[in-house]
Amino acid sequence: MLAGKRILLIIGGGVAAFKALTLIRLLRERGATVVPVITPAGQAFVTPLSASALAAEKVYTELFDLTDEAEMGHIELSRDADLVVVAPATADLLGKMANGLANDLASTLLMATDKRVLVAPAMNVRMWEHPATRRNVAQLRADGVLFAGPTEGPMACGEFGPGRMAEADEIATAIEDALADGPLKGRHVLVTSGPTHEPIDPVRYIANRSSGAQGTAIAAALAALGADVTFVTGPADVPPPAGVRVVRVETARDMLEAVERALPADAAVFAAAVADWRVASASDSKIKKEGSGSLPALSFAENPDILATVSQMVEGRPRLVVGFAAETDDVVANATRKRARKGCDWIVANDVSPATGIMGGPDNTVHLVHAGGVEDWPPMSKTEVGRRLANRIAEALGDMP
Ligand code: CTP
Repeated sequence: MLAGKRILLIIGGGVAAFKALTLIRLLRERGATVVPVITPAGQAFVTPLSASALAAEKVYTELFDLTDEAEMGHIELSRDADLVVVAPATADLLGKMANGLANDLASTLLMATDKRVLVAPAMNVRMWEHPATRRNVAQLRADGVLFAGPTEGPMACGEFGPGRMAEADEIATAIEDALADGPLKGRHVLVTSGPTHEPIDPVRYIANRSSGAQGTAIAAALAALGADVTFVTGPADVPPPAGVRVVRVETARDMLEAVERALPADAAVFAAAVADWRVASASDSKIKKEGSGSLPALSFAENPDILATVSQMVEGRPRLVVGFAAETDDVVANATRKRARKGCDWIVANDVSPATGIMGGPDNTVHLVHAGGVEDWPPMSKTEVGRRLANRIAEALGDMP
């Protein structure tokens, strides 16, 4: 239910705008107050009068409306809501949002808000698949924007494919999920993810095969349970999830700094595959083959151990610290020793031998090692591992004072 919730609904210009009227009705039935904003293009499809009649609220259309600014400025309008919803979110609106444009009422509200934003994209399939839209969507997801749809199906333009706006009841459910109080509401959880890159010179680096998929799935599951997630990620293959605060880093030392800056946290999950060593003195200029006469010799220095550093903090240690153990032999025995050596509470251990396909693959087989013993989880998708771990974290924090 949405009782007492206030939703600012921005209606963009698309044939699907008619579904926004149904959405207003559904949201009001579920107890919400809906304040509609209709873009000039949106007004070609639905009239402010119909939106106002269904919402029983004033409808906003102009950025520079002196009466509105006197009664309620656009900053206040954008912050007065519990959630900002854009439906239909056209390619144009997504582009403006991704690039920080603020040249009309809708885009200015989206820039000015301090609340979460949920978009329901609607556009022709070619426009949805255009590289520019792909870039904008990836950027918006990284910014924490929530998405409802689009779905696949026949479109008003006669084509078929993804780009069709989700139905009003699906958007209403996504809005309820976004506003629900999960068991981790009010908890700050830090997650590290991805590989690190350790420079050799300005163009070369040492890396590992981590895709960042498992850390991303964990962060997404924690956010879905209502946690406030700080996601510190190395250069990963998969984009960061929606609804988390993303901090991008390159090296292990950058990652430690970002982690220390993000503390305090209630719990921390160290899923990153941090490079154990860095090149002792990375060259400031490109190492040349020509005329050097010999092969370059690399010498290494040890990187800080982020998990051990945080686990052994005397002050400000998160109440629950979870590490990973990527092993190729004696998985559980090595993980059990690793837990003791690093000083963390739990270790999620997995076998990353090439034959398992876990590094970079969609599935994972893990063992959860804690003070009480070892739990062997059956093989499952990385998404499911993320969900189970997030639920366990919620239970553990719930049991702690
Ligand atoms: N880790 C870390 N900082 C490092 C190295 C590892 O925070 N410099 C964390 C990882 O994020 C993971 C855990 O430590 O949660 C274990 O990583 P792993 O590479 O398996 O352990 P190592 O300490 O490198 O042990 P070994 O190489 O001996 O297996």
